[in-house]
Amino acid sequence: MKKLIKSNVYWIGKTDWELESFHGADYTIKHGSSQNAYLITEEKTVLIDTVWMPHANEFIKNVESEIDLNKIDFIVINHGEVDHSGALPALMERIPNLPIYCTASAIKSLTGQYHHPEWNFNIVKTGDSIDIGNGKALVFVEMKMLHWPDSMATYLTGDNILFSNDAFGQHFAVEELFNDESDTCLLWAEALKYYANILTPFSVLVKRKVEEVLALNLAIDIIAPSHGAIWRENPLSIVEKYYEWSKDYQEDQITIVYDTMWESTMQLAHKIGQEISRVSPATKVKIFNVSKTNKNDIMTEVFKSKAIAVGSPTVGQNILSSVGGWLDFLKELKFKNKKAAVFGCYGWSGESTKVLRERLTDAGFEVVMPEIKCNWVPAEDDFSKAAEVANALCD
Ligand code: FEO
Repeated sequence: MKKLIKSNVYWIGKTDWELESFHGADYTIKHGSSQNAYLITEEKTVLIDTVWMPHANEFIKNVESEIDLNKIDFIVINHGEVDHSGALPALMERIPNLPIYCTASAIKSLTGQYHHPEWNFNIVKTGDSIDIGNGKALVFVEMKMLHWPDSMATYLTGDNILFSNDAFGQHFAVEELFNDESDTCLLWAEALKYYANILTPFSVLVKRKVEEVLALNLAIDIIAPSHGAIWRENPLSIVEKYYEWSKDYQEDQITIVYDTMWESTMQLAHKIGQEISRVSPATKVKIFNVSKTNKNDIMTEVFKSKAIAVGSPTVGQNILSSVGGWLDFLKELKFKNKKAAVFGCYGWSGESTKVLRERLTDAGFEVVMPEIKCNWVPAEDDFSKAAEVANALCD
């Protein structure tokens, strides 16, 4: 079923209430998601993006119930990832000569995934435009590394709609479609989680791209991303937030992440938390057992933090695999301008704090001294070091 966005522009995507994860299991989805595709029916009939492959038949049936497929003049593929291009093979089977407008990199990703080099590809670059009649045009803006090399956005003149693809999106099912009709608290939480867990590594490029787009002085009435709510009320609010988030964002918060074998390292985690609250009462403290809390939620809290403390006991001259796996993810996100402290208990050899220190340094954190390296179960001496760790993190 299509839904009106504005004038002759319709949403014709998939609201996916059952989706539980994204990028394999790398991103947990708690409030559904959507793959937003759009249909424009001016003098030219245009599709913008499609949906994920499992929904391809439903998508084509929906499009077909609105228009004769042979009346589609062309499709814009803003990004080749399968959640947006997945229905393309089925669509091309029905209308094989359909012109596809996309970036040069998108041809690589689409051909690599679907193996149809004969498709009618047409490369577009920033500033290129296509007249779609009735005084309107589509203007393309490359969005390289937001979040793939092939990503781009498409701007519809006249209606002033920016089809931004993944940028400004959220994994959030919003049947009502628009930000002003959605649960605003959840919407902003999901937008932040999306940025923190997917876009953080590209923050330098996000900042540059936002500056570039704002310098174009485009009138923007609506931002229509490829996931989640469409920004209709105050659409620039999400652009302003992206700009803020892109500049090594941090709040007065310290997040403590640990795992524990027999609760000794856990005791250190809680003591460090108490000492931070004592040393700096205004600082928000969050403490997570990495085995008991969703990793994306922890990462969102790390994104907001000025510093973190990471703890693990020593096991096999190393750290617990739960902490090790989480540190891999932490490194992938390329956080900048954050401090870290390390702590952990051991029975015999005691390598965990050294390993944590190396791993956090490698992930781009400024690892402070002192650390708490505790033999067996924490005693007064170990707990007293928590105040020094708190001071080093709050400094
Ligand atoms: Fe990069 Fe929504 O896919």
